[in-house]
Amino acid sequence: MKTRRQFLHNSLFGALAAGAGNWWPDAPSFFERPAKGALPVVIATWNNSRATAAAWKILSAGGRALDAVEAGARIPEADPEDTSVGYGGFPDRDGHVTLDACIMDEFGNAGSVSFLEHIMHPISVARRVMEKTPHVMLSGEGALQFALKEGFPKENLLTEKARRAWEEWKIKSEYKPVINIERHDTIGIVAVDARQRVAGACTTSGMAFKMHGRVGDSPIIGAGMFADNEAGVAAATGLGELVLKTLGSFLIVEEIRRGKHPQKAVETVIKRLAQKYPKDVAENQVGYVALDKKGRHGAYSLHPGFNYALYRQEQNIVFEAGSLFHK
Ligand code: GLY
Repeated sequence: MKTRRQFLHNSLFGALAAGAGNWWPDAPSFFERPAKGALPVVIATWNNSRATAAAWKILSAGGRALDAVEAGARIPEADPEDTSVGYGGFPDRDGHVTLDACIMDEFGNAGSVSFLEHIMHPISVARRVMEKTPHVMLSGEGALQFALKEGFPKENLLTEKARRAWEEWKIKSEYKPVINIERHDTIGIVAVDARQRVAGACTTSGMAFKMHGRVGDSPIIGAGMFADNEAGVAAATGLGELVLKTLGSFLIVEEIRRGKHPQKAVETVIKRLAQKYPKDVAENQVGYVALDKKGRHGAYSLHPGFNYALYRQEQNIVFEAGSLFHK
């Protein structure tokens, strides 16, 4: 029989444990305190320093990581010069610009859209899917109908530059991904805010001149991006087929959960990819960025040429990432 003291002890700690998420949702765990100045922090794949700057505006004002990564992802989505994301993205082989995106918040909520046409900001549609539907993912025509109902304008996303590149591609119609194409690809942007909340976003027009209907890693939770407020957050860029087959972002976060530094975690996952698919990795690029809850970061890729933008302590710097293979 329980003594009254045991009963009180169990009820108190049981209630605290069960209700911790609601009772004190944003409090850093005592054991997970970040180093002074480590938070907030945001990191994005490639030279996306305008995206990290947009995110920083929110983070530095004490804002939520989720709002920051969405604001960051919207920058290349609206940039007609970025031919791998949103407006201006290269079309598929039939001339359609089809977009994939996903987002996750600190509570483990997730939203995603795939094979979406005519909407400039798929990341914001993904957020609406997360916040306004009972689902995680909407695709194709259904995603478009939802976006239009939510008030997103229907737009032509095929720029003249992208149309010309497609016309040129059609001459040979060679179906071959190119490593570090124009040194940018999918944007994955992940953040930890001052209250130690993590979030991530990932958005892309996918592989240039892909087959119509092809969906890559970017809208797949755990592949293109994964966030878990107990551990950290990671995002991918590069050949989606390789990321999909290894569920890389999820694996990185799990490595962090097991105690690895984010740098070691991203290196472990890239090495595993190379071991498992030795032929595929020779001519294809994959890169990851990651943060743990303490604000420590990691970035690594298969091949040289992958860079990333890191904003912390009022400094927004683009770094070259290390790589498994060398020139
Ligand atoms: N990583 C983007 C894609 O392959 O679609």
